[in-house]
Amino acid sequence: MINKYLANVRESVNQQFLNIIKSDSQVSKAMLHTVLAPSKCIRAGIVRAAAELEGTLNKESINNLEVAVEAMHSYSLIHDDLPAMDDDDMRRGQPSNHIAYGEATAILAGDALHSLAYEIVANDTNLSVDHKVNIIKLLSDACGFNGMILGQQLDLESEGSDTGDINKIHALKTGRLISASLAMPITNSKLRMKLKIVGEDIGLAFQIMDDVLEITGSTKALGKDSKSDVKNNKLTYVSVYGLETAVKNAEKLIEKSINKIIDLDGNFNKKNLIEICNFIISRDN
Ligand code: IPE
Ligand code: IPE
Ligand code: MG
Ligand code: MG
Repeated sequence: MINKYLANVRESVNQQFLNIIKSDSQVSKAMLHTVLAPSKCIRAGIVRAAAELEGTLNKESINNLEVAVEAMHSYSLIHDDLPAMDDDDMRRGQPSNHIAYGEATAILAGDALHSLAYEIVANDTNLSVDHKVNIIKLLSDACGFNGMILGQQLDLESEGSDTGDINKIHALKTGRLISASLAMPITNSKLRMKLKIVGEDIGLAFQIMDDVLEITGSTKALGKDSKSDVKNNKLTYVSVYGLETAVKNAEKLIEKSINKIIDLDGNFNKKNLIEICNFIISRDN
């Protein structure tokens, strides 16, 4: 069920990327190379499922927010794979952006996707101005130098070390954008803040499972190098806690999050959000 839901999300995200990005330059071709490649679209799925809770945004605005978070995410992956960072040649089952387009164009494609995320939100004509400002705040806060970028910096500094704070690194580099994805579609500010906190646990669980899958999954199944963390001597959740505890902790975080979602007051449609939470710990890529 949830696979079909995410496939639908992916289809509308891809369509909107094709509407927005015309492949008339090297940089736009490079952008499309990564955004259209097979991905789970989990952040966009979270946006849609979160929007279903209140049921107040229209389809176009939901789609815009889905595309905005996936643009931001794809930018982060393009830069994450660069030789100066994780130096990974494969992403989403195909050559990484810099392998296909060269380092300079890959950097620019990432930069362009980062700007595009904000542009899409700003250009939406249905969201209220107040809500748009809140969305932009959430996105910039999640992805800036106190959020994802700090997480990426700490992740790089953790290479070869066994003393970094892995919970902090994961919460920042991955948790923050996932948390923003859950909060962005919510118009009620109290509910938005509540979901932002729930999203932090969901995001941490997601990155724990990413570390687990690097050990238990194959390069083919993952569509990316399953030995990347070992190659770079990364501090990972598994290297710190071991495989069994890592899985157990991810499961606990998801259980806690689902309980918080169940406990939300209001006539909400919670089904798909709960299914996405369960997918995060049961997925195989
Ligand atoms: C991979 O994210 C990088 C992380 C932040 C863990 P995803 O596992 O969501 O990758 P795609 O979007 O499906 O390719
Ligand atoms: C990626 O984390 C996090 C961001 C891009 C912000 P990882 O480096 O652990 O993810 P993969 O394994 O390359 O997808
Ligand atoms: Mg990395
Ligand atoms: Mg990486």
